[in-house]
Amino acid sequence: MSSASYGNLNANPSRENLHEEQPRYDGFAGYGGGAQRKKGTSNWIKCGVPLLLIIIIAAVVGGVVGSHKKKSSSSSASSAAQSASAAASAAASAKSALGQFAVATDSFYMMPIYPSTTDSAAFSSPTFISNDAQDSWPTDPFQPANPDVLTVRTDRPVLIAPAYKWAALPGLIATDPYLKSWNDTIFGNASFYASLPPVIYFMDNSSGILDNARDFKRRVKTFSYVYRMTNDTKWVDLAWREIANVAGNGTTTFGPETDRWNSGHFLDVAEFSAGYAIAYDWLYEILTADQKSQMISTLMLYGLKPGVNQITTSAGWWAVNTTGNWNCVCNNGLTMASLAILNDDTTGIAKQILQFTVNNAKNNCVQAVSTDGTWAETANYWYFGTTGLAEMAASLLSATGSDYGLMSANPNLANTGDFHMYVTGATSLFNYGDHGPNKYSTTANAMMFIGNYFDQPQYQLFQRDMYDAAEPWSMFWYQPNIAGAFWDGKPLDHFFVNFTDQWASMRSTWTDVNALYVAMKAGTNLYHQNHNDLDCGDFVIDALGTRWAGELGSADYNSPGYFTSVDQDGQRWQYYRKMTEGQNTILINKSNQNLNAAPTVNYGTSNTTQGPTTVNVVPQDSTAFFTQDMTSAYFDATSVKRGIRLLNGRRQILLQDEVTASQGVMWRMHTNATVSVDSSGTSATLTLDGQTMQVQMLNPPSGAKFTTTDAVRFSTDVTPPIPDQPNPGVTVLIIDLPAGTYNLQVLFNPQWPSSDGVNYVTPPSVALDSWTLRSHDNS
Ligand SMILES: *[C@@H]1O[C@H](CO)[C@@H](O)[C@H](O)[C@H]1NC(C)=O
Ligand SMILES: *[C@@H]1O[C@H](CO)[C@@H](O)[C@H](O)[C@H]1NC(C)=O
Ligand SMILES: *[C@@H]1O[C@H](CO)[C@@H](O)[C@H](O)[C@H]1NC(C)=O
Ligand SMILES: *[C@@H]1O[C@H](CO)[C@@H](O)[C@H](O)[C@H]1NC(C)=O
Ligand SMILES: *[C@@H]1O[C@H](CO)[C@@H](O)[C@H](O)[C@H]1NC(C)=O
Ligand SMILES: *[C@@H]1O[C@H](CO)[C@@H](O)[C@H](O)[C@H]1NC(C)=O
Ligand SMILES: *[C@@H]1O[C@H](CO)[C@@H](O)[C@H](O)[C@H]1NC(C)=O
Ligand SMILES: *[C@@H]1O[C@H](CO)[C@@H](O)[C@H](O)[C@H]1NC(C)=O
Ligand SMILES: *[C@@H]1O[C@H](CO)[C@@H](O)[C@H](O)[C@H]1NC(C)=O
Ligand SMILES: *[C@@H]1O[C@H](CO)[C@@H](O)[C@H](O)[C@H]1NC(C)=O
Repeated sequence: MSSASYGNLNANPSRENLHEEQPRYDGFAGYGGGAQRKKGTSNWIKCGVPLLLIIIIAAVVGGVVGSHKKKSSSSSASSAAQSASAAASAAASAKSALGQFAVATDSFYMMPIYPSTTDSAAFSSPTFISNDAQDSWPTDPFQPANPDVLTVRTDRPVLIAPAYKWAALPGLIATDPYLKSWNDTIFGNASFYASLPPVIYFMDNSSGILDNARDFKRRVKTFSYVYRMTNDTKWVDLAWREIANVAGNGTTTFGPETDRWNSGHFLDVAEFSAGYAIAYDWLYEILTADQKSQMISTLMLYGLKPGVNQITTSAGWWAVNTTGNWNCVCNNGLTMASLAILNDDTTGIAKQILQFTVNNAKNNCVQAVSTDGTWAETANYWYFGTTGLAEMAASLLSATGSDYGLMSANPNLANTGDFHMYVTGATSLFNYGDHGPNKYSTTANAMMFIGNYFDQPQYQLFQRDMYDAAEPWSMFWYQPNIAGAFWDGKPLDHFFVNFTDQWASMRSTWTDVNALYVAMKAGTNLYHQNHNDLDCGDFVIDALGTRWAGELGSADYNSPGYFTSVDQDGQRWQYYRKMTEGQNTILINKSNQNLNAAPTVNYGTSNTTQGPTTVNVVPQDSTAFFTQDMTSAYFDATSVKRGIRLLNGRRQILLQDEVTASQGVMWRMHTNATVSVDSSGTSATLTLDGQTMQVQMLNPPSGAKFTTTDAVRFSTDVTPPIPDQPNPGVTVLIIDLPAGTYNLQVLFNPQWPSSDGVNYVTPPSVALDSWTLRSHDNS
C-alpha cells in the first residue's frame, strides 16, 4: 500500500505533472513577509502569572491531600497495579486541582504559556486513566455486528457526536476544565458569528471560494453546537440564514446559479457539503420537513451531483493517485454529506458515493503520511489533510460503527502526531514550502482524534493547551479521563529520515516560548504534491521568544505556472519565495537547486527527554546534530555538505558548510531582525522584538564577510510571469564568495538574559564527516 504508492511515484517522477492543467489551489492567498509585527505579552499575562502560580501551588497541595476520594484500589491487586493505579489517581486529582496547564497564550505567536513549575504528580506520564468512570465517555449503544457503510444508525445525530455523547457532555463539562473553557469559547465564537452578515461571496481566483466554504462550515457547525446545548432556536435561525445564503437564497447573490459551490475547484464543494451535512444532521429534529427537503435538493444540485461527476470522470483528478489533502478533503465532504442524508435520499447518489470514497481515501488520503509520520505536502497541509481524514473516520465510526480500515490502511498514521509536535517550534511551525495563514474551519484537533484512536494521550495533551483547541470537534474527541503532561519523557530531538522528507527537529525545552529550536530540511525537492520549494539545507531558528531565521511562505497561488513544478525550468521556480535564493541555504552560481536532489543525512542526539517540569534545564553535555551531503542538489559543485548542531547545553548553535564549487558560492539566511554587521565583517548583531542574537563566523575563509540585502530577486534572474510578492521587513544575511573550496562555520549566540549566567563557548573546528555527539565538547 504505502510502498506501492511511493514506489509508483518513484518510477514515474513526472506523475505530479498529470494534472498540471488543473488548478491545485488549496486555500492560501499570498501574504506579505513580516511587516507589521506586534510583540509582547499583555499586562494580564505579565501581572497574572505570579499570582496564578501561588494559587496553582496551593491547589496542587490541596489536590494531593484530598486525593483519597478518587482511589478505589482493592487489597488483592498486585503492588505494581496498585502503584500504577495510585499514580493514575494522584495524576487525576492533581489534574483537577491544576485545571488548565497553560495559564495564557502568547499574544503574538499564540503559543501556550506554562507556569514555571515542577510537579511530578500532575506533570507525569501521559495516560488515559482506564478506571476513571466519572470522567469517561459512555460506550456507544450502537454496536452493529456487521458494520456496513450503507447502514447508518437510526437515531440522530449520526455524524461524529451521536445523542449519547450530547447527553454525557454537560456532566463532563462540569468536571473538566478544558471542556468547560472550550464550551465557553465556542459560545463566544457563536455570538461573534451571529453579529456578522451571512458569508459574503468572494471569488479570489487563487483558491476559488474555499475561504467562503470553510467560513460557512465553521459557522454552521458552531451554531448547531450551541443550539443543541441550549435548545434556543435563535441558533437554528442563524444556521438557516447561512444555509439559505450559500444556496443563493440570501439577500446578496452567491455565485452563478448553475454552479454556486464552484465545482471547478472541488475543495470548495467538499467543504460546503460537509457544512450542509453537519447542519442537516445536528439540527435534524428541529428543521422542518420543508427545510430538510430544500437542503437535500440544494446539496444534490451543488454538491453531490458534481461529486458523482468527479468520481466517475477525469474531472476528479484528486481521486487518482493523489496522496494528500485534496483527496482527504474531497472524500470527506462527499462522505459526511452522503452519510447525513443516506436514509432520506431517494436517488441512490449517496449510496453510490459511499461505495467509492472509503476505498479511495484508504488508497490515497492516508498515504500522504510517510514512514516516519511526516505529511508529504507541508507542515501546514497536515492541518487540511488530517482534519479531512479525522472528520471522515469519525463520521464513518459514529454513523455506521466502523471506519473500514481507513485509519489502519497506513500504519505510519499513528506517528503523524509526532510530526506535528516536532514541526511545531518554540514560536511557530517549521513553515517550509507552501504555507499560508487562512485555516478557518481547519485546526490541529485531528490530534484529539488520532490520539484517541491510536492510544496516544500525549497528542491530546499537546493539543489541548493550543489556542485552536476550542471548537466542537474537541468537545467530542477529547478524553477527559486523561492525565499527565505531554512533555514528561518526551525526547527533545527527533530525526525524520524518510528519503522524501529527511528533516531534523531539536530544542531545549517543550514548554517555553523562549526555548531554542532548530529545524532543518534535506529530502527530495520532488514528491510533495507541488508544494515544496527548492530548499535542501533550509532551516529555521527560534530563541528568546522570536524567530531569527525564518521562511517566506507561499507566494500567490494565482501566479501563472505556480504549480508547474516538475520541470527544472518550470515557472514555479522563477518566483523568489520558491527559488533556492529565497531559502535559508547555500546558493551556487545564483542558480536553483537540482530538482532531482537526493541528499544523504547523518545525525545524533543525546536522547535528552524532558521530565515532570516546565523549567527544563538540560545537562551541559546534552546535544544533537544533523548533517547532510547535498551535493546532488547542485549543478556547479563537486561537494556541498551542511551540518547544524546544538552547543553549550542547547544554548548556542553551530552551522557549518563545506563546499567545493566551480561557480560563486553564497550563504543566505532570511530574517525579520534588524541586522548590523561589525567593522570586521565577520560578526553580525541581529535585533528583533527587543532581543539580540550574535552571529559570528569562526575561522572565516579569506574574503568572507557578512553583507545584507532585501529579500528580492537578483537583476540577473529570469523574469517571472508576474512580479514577486514583496517581503517587507525581511533582510537577507549573506556571505558571498567566488568559486572555490570553503569551510564556513557560523556560530549563533542568542543573548540569553544575564541572570541565566551563560558562558558562551567557541567550538573546535571539526570536519562534518567527523561530527559525533562528543566531537565539540572541547569548547
Ligand atoms: C518513505 O515513505 C514511503 C511512503 O510511506 C515508503 O514507501 C518508503 O519506503 C519510505 N522510504 C524510506 C527510505 O523510508
Ligand atoms: C457552555 O458555555 C455557555 C456559555 O458560557 C454556558 O452558558 C453553558 O452553561 C455551558 N454549558 C455547560 C453544559 O456548562
Ligand atoms: C473564538 O473565541 C476566542 C476566545 O475569545 C478567540 O480568541 C477566537 O479568535 C475566536 N475565534 C473565532 C474564529 O472567532
Ligand atoms: C478573478 O478573475 C476575474 C476574471 O478574470 C476578474 O474579473 C476578477 O476581478 C478576479 N478577482 C480577483 C479577486 O482577483
Ligand atoms: C434540549 O431538549 C432535549 C430534548 O427535549 C432535552 O433532552 C435536553 O435536555 C434539552 N437541553 C437543554 C440544555 O435544555
Ligand atoms: C433556494 O431556493 C431555491 C429556489 O427557490 C429552492 O429550490 C431551494 O430549495 C432553496 N434552497 C435552500 C437551501 O434554501
Ligand atoms: C495509479 O496508480 C496505480 C497503482 O500504482 C497505477 O496502476 C495507475 O496506472 C496509476 N494511474 C495513473 C493515472 O497514474
Ligand atoms: C517574519 O514574520 C512573519 C510574521 O510572524 C512570519 O510569517 C515570517 O515567516 C517571518 N519571516 C522571516 C524571514 O522570519
Ligand atoms: C551558471 O550561471 C550562468 C550565468 O547565469 C549560466 O549561464 C549557467 O547556465 C549557470 N549554470 C548552471 C548549471 O545553471
Ligand atoms: C539514543 O537512542 C538511540 C536509539 O535508541 C540509540 O541508538 C543511541 O545510541 C542513543 N544515544 C545515546 C547517546 O544514548
